[in-house]
Amino acid sequence: MHVPTLIEKKREGQELTQEEIEYLITGFTSGEIADYQMSAWAMAVFFKGMTAVETQHLTTAMMESGSVLEYPEGSPRKVDKHSTGGIGDKTSLVLAPLLACDENWVPMISGRGLGITGGTLDKLESIPGFNIHIDERRALTQLKSIGVFMIGQSADICPADKKLYALRDVTGTVPSQALIVASIMSKKLAENLDRLVLDVKFGSGAFMKTRKEAQQLAAAMTKVGKLMGVQVSHLLSPMNEPLGRTVGNALEVAECVEILQGGGPADAVKLVLDLAEQVSTAKRSQLSAWLQDGTAWRKFISLVYAQDGDASSLEKLGEVHRAPVIQPFLAKSAGTIKKMDAETIGRVSLLVGGGRQTANDTIDFAVGLSGIKKVGERVEKGESLLLVHARDDQTLRLILPLLEKAVEIGLTHD
Ligand code: URA
Repeated sequence: MHVPTLIEKKREGQELTQEEIEYLITGFTSGEIADYQMSAWAMAVFFKGMTAVETQHLTTAMMESGSVLEYPEGSPRKVDKHSTGGIGDKTSLVLAPLLACDENWVPMISGRGLGITGGTLDKLESIPGFNIHIDERRALTQLKSIGVFMIGQSADICPADKKLYALRDVTGTVPSQALIVASIMSKKLAENLDRLVLDVKFGSGAFMKTRKEAQQLAAAMTKVGKLMGVQVSHLLSPMNEPLGRTVGNALEVAECVEILQGGGPADAVKLVLDLAEQVSTAKRSQLSAWLQDGTAWRKFISLVYAQDGDASSLEKLGEVHRAPVIQPFLAKSAGTIKKMDAETIGRVSLLVGGGRQTANDTIDFAVGLSGIKKVGERVEKGESLLLVHARDDQTLRLILPLLEKAVEIGLTHD
């Protein structure tokens, strides 16, 4: 097959065959098809889309680029959740240990930051020593002992997604329904799950801007999941303001520690419980009790230890990763927060170094935003709306105009 012809075929909006899709994915994974060709193809998919049949072939080809997990006979139910990506969305780090407090196994394969959205793997790597690259054998042993692992796509599992994900991140080809479906579902299908809950985000900080688009994405992923024998449910969750009060890798992990210790912001706790009850056999009251009584926190500590992380650093991550410049962004007037725009906040986090602008960029774990006020909260003139954590003053100056745009305070008459 001739790669330029396949790119042209997609560019003209024609349907690719199963063999053609397999050829592209196999060639790209092995390195025979160049990044620039795959980028052009991804852009053609972004503009022309894929049919349901093409999307399914793409998902299968990506899943089959590596191995599919196999479990011993009679092992517990395998459950997981996946989010389509948002700003400050740290739910996986709480949800995975929480689900493992029950009789479930949670074999979680996650991704890195994508575009302006953060990634579970980057957050995990802000925990000193945490190893997201454990191999399949070790991962299975860990499931047997503590019921949960959190790893990335690898040479073993979904290598095609690992490469394509990194390419999409830096080529403007993330918000394509077909590419998102295949990326998420190939990872989840490689986990060989019984139950999956999808957190499909919509709003300014999500790839899907409207509820309708999110609904369509959810339907497409559910269809692929069902065809492959997984029970899939979904939530549509708004992403117009960041989830919780932090954005940035180590800052978000610190917020997860708060949640796992029974505190944390109400919106993030609610989303964790909403998602957990979709796949867990435990009731919401029990799940909530595990967050309150330290059971989920202890499970998280076991997970961090099991994957070579320094669990003793968890309660002092703010010191381990401390940005040199921490500055409040102050309210210019008193009133009620009307807008805390997720997209702009995500862009700010990216620009201060919390995300990648090119594929080889390294993440700065310390930077981001904390103490973010929530929509509907009252503030006084001069009060901090959020704290910016930056590497230097120059970066801070660069992002201040964006922050001006991100926040809107409405007057209150009281
Ligand atoms: N999460 C993924 O794993 N892949 C995407 O394409 C988007 C969100």
